[in-house]
Amino acid sequence: MNPFRIQLNGEPISAEIAPTTLLVDFIRGEQRLTGTHVGCDTAQCGACTVLVDGEPLKSCSVLALQVQGRVVTTIESLAASENELHPVQQAFIECHGLQCGFCTPGMVMATVGLLAHNPDPDDAEIAEALDGNLCRCTGYVNIVAAVHRAAQLMAERSGQSETQGAQA
Ligand code: FES
Ligand code: FES
Repeated sequence: MNPFRIQLNGEPISAEIAPTTLLVDFIRGEQRLTGTHVGCDTAQCGACTVLVDGEPLKSCSVLALQVQGRVVTTIESLAASENELHPVQQAFIECHGLQCGFCTPGMVMATVGLLAHNPDPDDAEIAEALDGNLCRCTGYVNIVAAVHRAAQLMAERSGQSETQGAQA
């Protein structure tokens, strides 16, 4: 067993893990954060995407020890509350960017990672960013629309907070 420390969804986590433990198994099995899905277990589908230091990463493709000391973010931490979804989650609902929802956590996390770098991506940039995320239900049109809508919602929210900051 090896000592393992990360920051997970804003909380410091310390554990003892086997060197063969995959990051996704630590997240789902040990931390019980089952919003991160496993579709293929072979780095093909993107359902297991989380953010590591803000960058999307397929958590089935790395050992947990490979992210030692890093900041890991899963879908569970996005919504501010049950009544206040993250703009990307809200956009996927508004644009019907999901059907069965199996791929959705990975799509959402990949989108959050994209918009952090590129707040107004075009269709080609969205296709490239979501290239590693597969959906068997939607046909992708609504997912691309959801990413555009998420960009719009995030711009609106940041405009509102700037206005509130100026008024304070
Ligand atoms: Fe990780 Fe499919 S479960 S890429
Ligand atoms: Fe079913 Fe994407 S919504 S796999």
